[in-house]
Parts: sequence; C-alpha cells; structure tokens
Amino acid sequence: MSYFKKHLFLCANQRPTGQPCCNPQGGDALFAFAKKRGKELGLDAANIRVSRAGCLGRCAQGPTLVIYPEGVWYTFIDQEDIEEILQRCLLRGERVERLLA
Ligand code: FES
Repeated sequence: MSYFKKHLFLCANQRPTGQPCCNPQGGDALFAFAKKRGKELGLDAANIRVSRAGCLGRCAQGPTLVIYPEGVWYTFIDQEDIEEILQRCLLRGERVERLLA
C-alpha cells in the first residue's frame, strides 16, 4: 500500500557537463509552479504529493515527470502543461495522452 495516494516526481536536475538534462528546459521553474498550484488545488488534503527529483534517467526526453503508483511518464513545456497534468492526472485520475513520454 502506498503512503501517498499519488506521488508526482518532477526532474529538475542540472548537469554541469552540458549533457541533456531537465533543468535548463524549465525543471526548477515548473516545479515551483507545480508546488504552488498543488497547494492551491488542495493536493495535500487529498494525500497527493509533488516532489522535486534528481535525474530520473530519461534525460533526452526531458523535462520529465513520473506519477506513481501508476508509473506514468510525461514530458511538458510550460505551465499550461503542468496545470493540465495536475488537474487531470492527480485530481481526476485521467491521462494526458498528448504529453506521455
Ligand atoms: S536530467 Fe532529468 S531525467 Fe535526467
């Protein structure tokens, strides 16, 4: 049994070597947006967690996030994408097909 009902991990990893990574593509900024919107949407009360992650191992498809317990992967570009993932995936249990990674 999972501790949280759902747990979203968003990669904001920064590599010093110039290799592909998620942070230059918006990782930190979009994580901050996801946390802010998560609070506004009452995710804590719903036992849903949003966490910043280090490298998730899918750097070339970044920025990436994964939602457990389903283990569904997404990529995203902007705040609208994050908003859709929060609303549809975390709150309604749907998938956003256009953003699947
Ligand atoms: S740096 Fe984000 S998945 Fe590797």
